[in-house]
Amino acid sequence: MTLLVAEYPHCRLRRNRQDSWCRDLVAENQLSVNDLILPVFIREKDAPRDIAAMPGVFRHSLDELIPFCQRVRDSGIKAIALFPYTNPALRCEEGKEALNPNNLICRASRLIKETFPDLGLIADVALDPYTSHGHDGVLLKGQVVNDESVEVLVEMALVQAEAGVDVLAPSDMMDGRIGAIRKALDQKGYKNMRILAYSAKYASAFYGPFRDALGSSSVLKGDKKSYQMDPANALEALREGAQDLMEGADMLMVKPGLPYLDIIYRFREAFSMPIFAYQVSGEYSMLKAASERGWLDYDKAILESLLAFKRAGASAVFSYAALEIAEKLKAVSY
Ligand code: PBG
Repeated sequence: MTLLVAEYPHCRLRRNRQDSWCRDLVAENQLSVNDLILPVFIREKDAPRDIAAMPGVFRHSLDELIPFCQRVRDSGIKAIALFPYTNPALRCEEGKEALNPNNLICRASRLIKETFPDLGLIADVALDPYTSHGHDGVLLKGQVVNDESVEVLVEMALVQAEAGVDVLAPSDMMDGRIGAIRKALDQKGYKNMRILAYSAKYASAFYGPFRDALGSSSVLKGDKKSYQMDPANALEALREGAQDLMEGADMLMVKPGLPYLDIIYRFREAFSMPIFAYQVSGEYSMLKAASERGWLDYDKAILESLLAFKRAGASAVFSYAALEIAEKLKAVSY
């Protein structure tokens, strides 16, 4: 692109900024409900509802889920992503509950798809809600082992496919899991199942409130640096993205969001496939906490941050603020 700009004073770039109507006409990016995906925490009836570090976000029991999804549908949001709070008694070394076709996620998925067939349903593929050590994969002698983890994740993906989810989102960062899941899906006849690959998922401090919501932070042994990416790296993210696409991913995820806008932009430049971004729990909590202290205007700050994802090149954004923002935005339907 050539940057043809006349010299000042012929060119005054402020001319186009002087009125609101004109700013709207020259705006390069817009945010609409079509850009938003809401992560939803679910729980059994007896589990706690509030999440201390995430004011305004709750764990929903199955009976609360239907009215809640109705509200989501009415807001125009196209898809939700489910995350379970598993009762501690059901967590074990191997995360076996992940493979139970009647686990919380599967029951919620069937309920949602029966009631709201046209609400997109995304399910996470990773073992952390189910393991007693809080890791996303299988732990052997203190190591998260790759190939053994992939085997279990493939089974987990199939169980969730059977429960009727629309998109499988492996967030585990094991090598080769996209290809293995794709192969198993094809063999079982799920040839149209979408895979949203968490390709560039960083070992980030911004996941803290999410781990509290899942109840996995207090149990997590060590850290996730042997499988999630080093925040120092960007070229490696391109290799991850390319590999996931080669293995059959339909969409790529960058996570966290705002601190990694450069990665979203690089993905947008490098790949012609949809790029999603995740405005993670810590990003939400920061904005909420500062606004609760009167230090930030929450609505303005969250809208600005979501628009930044669009500017960087994201097709859609996971955000805990999605519902409140969607209810404020008007759907753009063309
Ligand atoms: C784990 C998973 C995490 C998040 C989504 N899936 C946390 C982690 O990797 O420990 C974080 C999301 C957030 O912080 O909002 N499979």
